[in-house]
Amino acid sequence: MLQVKYREFTTLLFELYQLKSVFALLDWDTQVNMPEKGSQRRGETVAYLAGLLHHKFVSREFENLLKSVRKLNQEGKLDEKQSAVVREVYREFTREKKLPENFVRELAQVTSQAHQVWTRARKENKFHSFLPYLERIIDLKRREAEYVGYRQSPYDALLDTYEPGAKATEIDIIFTDLKEFLVPFLKKIQKTKSPSKTRLASGGKIQIKSLKGNFLLEKQKEWGRMVARALGFDFTAGRIDQAVHPFATNFHPEDVRITTRFNLHDLFYSLMSTIHEVGHALYEQGLPAENFGTPLAESISLGIHESQSRVWENQVGRSLPFWKYFYPALQRKFPKPFGKIKLEDFYRALNSVRPSLIRTESDEVTYNLHIVLRFELEKELIEGKLDARDAPEVWNQKMKEYFGLVPKTDREGILQDVHWSAGLFGYFPTYALGNLYSAQFYAAAKHSNPGLESQFARGKFAKFRAWLKTNIHIHGRFYSASQLCKKITGKPLNTKYFTDYLTLKYSQIYKLSD
Ligand code: CO
Repeated sequence: MLQVKYREFTTLLFELYQLKSVFALLDWDTQVNMPEKGSQRRGETVAYLAGLLHHKFVSREFENLLKSVRKLNQEGKLDEKQSAVVREVYREFTREKKLPENFVRELAQVTSQAHQVWTRARKENKFHSFLPYLERIIDLKRREAEYVGYRQSPYDALLDTYEPGAKATEIDIIFTDLKEFLVPFLKKIQKTKSPSKTRLASGGKIQIKSLKGNFLLEKQKEWGRMVARALGFDFTAGRIDQAVHPFATNFHPEDVRITTRFNLHDLFYSLMSTIHEVGHALYEQGLPAENFGTPLAESISLGIHESQSRVWENQVGRSLPFWKYFYPALQRKFPKPFGKIKLEDFYRALNSVRPSLIRTESDEVTYNLHIVLRFELEKELIEGKLDARDAPEVWNQKMKEYFGLVPKTDREGILQDVHWSAGLFGYFPTYALGNLYSAQFYAAAKHSNPGLESQFARGKFAKFRAWLKTNIHIHGRFYSASQLCKKITGKPLNTKYFTDYLTLKYSQIYKLSD
């Protein structure tokens, strides 16, 4: 009886996951293959599928099954994996059930219009034309928080969508720590001679722009695929395609898709984003395929997901050992300009710290400050402490305080990111959490594998990949993000590992003294 109920439950759950896969496939196709004229009809198909998925999920039939398996769980009749499945499905179910259908439809409608309005407003640099939409979206997101419920801040209810269990007050503490380290650290770096002016091994001057050149598309593609393969991306269980925005998606742990984009003058524009997406993909390919159709074959949270992309992109892909291995081949493949640039100089140029107005163009040191700024702003907007019309001014004040830069236009300021127009409030913090988790996990991996970096220098990444897989990927959503962090690193998430990592790396690059 017991196993029969649980089986009925997972059978229906499996159907939901089949629909999710179809949904993801359509979304991938929309971004990679769809001809321009297909967009209208595709929108209708996607909307139909989304409705179908929602109906099946919150149906009476599914609710009853969920109730009975929850009862079994409360009676202690399920094993711990089954129990985790029930817990995770129930969490999503209650959230979905709390949102009235007309609210979901209104939000979808407003954000779809807002996307177009934002695109134009950004192009024309007119914040005031986006303002009415921003106000409506904030209003809707506050309503969403009311429907979902929260204890302290309505922001918690939104954050929970992307980072289950995280609270604004905890993020506040972590981000304040981070800011108190980063702002003076950045000033210290800026006061030293930039790598362009310090003595270089080759005697000349080097700047990030010395890494620019002319890089044929086909050669860039070959190079990117070679690196992806070396890191362990499984091409028999995945593909790399081209799209406007790089992303990773999966239909199943054995079919994981990533995309990249190219700039003919900047090799690293594509390469670093490819490595980033490979990190996401290795997570997806590392999930236990045998559990497909349950949360046990899904990623924990956006923060944990981002930790996997960041660790490959930054701790590995921007490290000296990594380039010790790949640089000679890079020099052979692209003798212009790399033939004349020495490895150490290349490494320092690749890691130059330059505060930027634009989040997506920023380096490891300044990136998190962009996130802190957005978090502080969006939290106040959601809590009703800041009026949307005053947001650009607050944005610019904070830019000055944290980066010493003031955007001349809103296009380089508050209008730069797509997130708010899409209703993604509570999403930004996951980027910084990913960076923090990546540093903390990486420290643990190095601790249990002291020779890790000398392996990278020999082009060997299998041990590190296996460490990530056994410690993180194979668990799916069995643990929460904070449980996993404690289990692997022995400590709750904190900024120390990240700030230690930056201090060590950039003290060496910029020859900082204490
Ligand atoms: Co990412």
